[in-house]
Amino acid sequence: LRSQVVGCGSYLPARIVTNAELAARVDTSDEWIVQRTGIRQRHVAADDEPTSVVGLKAAQAAIADAGIDPSEIDLIIVATATPDHTFPATATQIQAALGITGGAAFDLQAVCSGFVFALATADKFLTTGGARAALVIGAETFSRILDWEDRATCVLFGDGAGAVVLKAAPGEGTLADRGILTTHIRSDGRHKDKLYVDGGAGSTKTVGFLRMEGKEVFRHAVTNLAETVRHTFEQTGLSGADIDWFVPHQANRRIIDATADKLGISHDHVVVTVDRHGNTSAASIPLALAEAHADGRIKRGQLVLIEAMGGGFTWGSALIRW
Ligand code: ACO
Repeated sequence: LRSQVVGCGSYLPARIVTNAELAARVDTSDEWIVQRTGIRQRHVAADDEPTSVVGLKAAQAAIADAGIDPSEIDLIIVATATPDHTFPATATQIQAALGITGGAAFDLQAVCSGFVFALATADKFLTTGGARAALVIGAETFSRILDWEDRATCVLFGDGAGAVVLKAAPGEGTLADRGILTTHIRSDGRHKDKLYVDGGAGSTKTVGFLRMEGKEVFRHAVTNLAETVRHTFEQTGLSGADIDWFVPHQANRRIIDATADKLGISHDHVVVTVDRHGNTSAASIPLALAEAHADGRIKRGQLVLIEAMGGGFTWGSALIRW
């Protein structure tokens, strides 16, 4: 069996916050932010748009694109680091809002790598007969865990959600088959202090704020991302030149460019949204996939490479025949 992508959609909150608006709040400038990150603006969710609402809208768009009935979905995984509540899972709230009462729904926490981890997990269920149709959502409202006085972090992130619908389909297991061809996921918990949220039930008992050693994260990102993709290339015998679309996690334009260069992928085969979305953590890859799917860049049968790295550290990649 193969897990085929049969639908893709996304949602961005209406409110846009520009760099100029941030510069009026903290000691920063449009020039600094653009030069260091490539970010020009980000979307910020309204008070009545928690992660479950943002995620639901992306899910509805993906289901409409797939043209299936929601009741066919028997697995929902929501990758998020900003769930509405400690429990129940945001996934079960989205399941209920979609009117789905069968199957299983759960959240998965791998921060910015969450979508890659969730896709890898759904793929295992679908290819082993554990589920027939999966909804994989990356949904985040990082605006709610940002210290808006900390210029080193508040300029980097944005809110949004993206989703894909996957279906189990017969496949020969060759690289020519449509579907998820390979996934690789990794973690190394020794790096916790470089990127974390300083709250939680086990510490301050409040939600807390995101804290980051930006330079350290940057240094590890390019190395780890190139490593995970190299596994994919070794396993499949492919190289950067074979990739139709490289859809990396959108944290920083310099990380994206450096990784593409290291992998031998030309910049006109890279989907970039970080300039308009900022870093939307687990939502960034499905948001970028949905944009390039909707505007016709990513076509059926093309090879799409995704990768991400995030807090933990966690990192991973997946190769999809779209
Ligand atoms: N505006 C103006 N100045 C700032 C700002 C800001 N928004 N933020 C920091 N500075 C200042 C710092 O205070 C520092 O000043 P100092 O030299 O007087 O001490 C100076 O700019 C340089 O700061 P650095 O942190 O060394 O700047 P750097 O070049 O490393 O860029 C950045 C910072 C953009 C955060 C970079 O390190 C980065 O992108 N790291 C990756 C982080 C990331 O993307 N994390 C996302 C989650 S993980 C992931 O998704 C991969």
